[in-house]
Amino acid sequence: MGRLAGYRTVVTGAGSGIGRAIVRRYLAEGAHVAAVVRSQDDVAALNAEGALTVLGDVSLYETAESAVATAVEQWGGLDAYVANAGLWDFHKRIEKQSPAQLHAAYREVFGVNLLGALYGARAALGALRQSRGSVIVSGSNACFRAGGGGALYTASKFALRGLVLQLARELAPDVRVNGVAPGATDTGISGPAALGQRGHAMNADPARMAVMADHMLLGRVSAPEEHASLYVLLASREESSYVTGAMLLSDGGLTIST
Ligand SMILES: NC(=O)c1ccc[n+]([C@@H]2O[C@H](COP(=O)([O-])OP(=O)(O)OC[C@H]3O[C@@H](n4cnc5c(N)ncnc54)[C@H](O)[C@@H]3O)[C@@H](O)[C@H]2O)c1
Repeated sequence: MGRLAGYRTVVTGAGSGIGRAIVRRYLAEGAHVAAVVRSQDDVAALNAEGALTVLGDVSLYETAESAVATAVEQWGGLDAYVANAGLWDFHKRIEKQSPAQLHAAYREVFGVNLLGALYGARAALGALRQSRGSVIVSGSNACFRAGGGGALYTASKFALRGLVLQLARELAPDVRVNGVAPGATDTGISGPAALGQRGHAMNADPARMAVMADHMLLGRVSAPEEHASLYVLLASREESSYVTGAMLLSDGGLTIST
């Protein structure tokens, strides 16, 4: 029997990278998954693997609402809402952004990285209270330190950590709220359109990935699958029953060494 047998879950940012690895692992552990994706291109493959799909932009409340409604209608409830969708900013310095770009890029990055999680928690709250379930976010080493991105990314991830702390307090004792904080991971994470970064992929630049690997105590960049078992742990009532307000580092030692 899987570690999440019968668990009813929503995973955002499910079309690629860490989100895709979480979906595969949750399904393998016996969970039902409503996978929130941005692009129609990701729907068929996820459906073939056994996930339901919800198309939408996580910076809009109705996306979270429809993901939760899908889980409740299909499976009668929800046990975990994983707010994983994210945008990076490719270390873009603020003097290289016009004030208008800063404004627009702020709205995009915070809209996905922070508001997406806040909306998810808000939409899932009733169902999670009933199941005594949990919210799990994808944080980052940038929740704890400068240098994991530019100002927008770092500020959004610090804010996300604040959200985890505050929601853990507000939603206790019914709902646990936690996060996983990856270090450099081999994915094609993209950035905001306002900075011309839509369609850019972090791992498309081998030189950048090599520099990142050098910064890790473990001497390499991680694969998305290496974080997935922490998301299983945090969703499981049996395995992390006393954990709330935590942001579990999965960063190859980066945060303690810089
Ligand atoms: N890759 C890394 O090195 C790294 C390090 C630390 C933290 N993270 C975090 O991990 C999470 C997953 O990122 P990843 O590296 O797997 O990258 P990724 O690009 O593969 O995954 C992010 C997903 O979010 C989706 N997304 C972006 N904007 C969206 C929107 N408006 N609405 C709906 N979906 C949207 C994308 O379509 C994509 O599938 C992010 O929160 C990221 O900040 C990544």
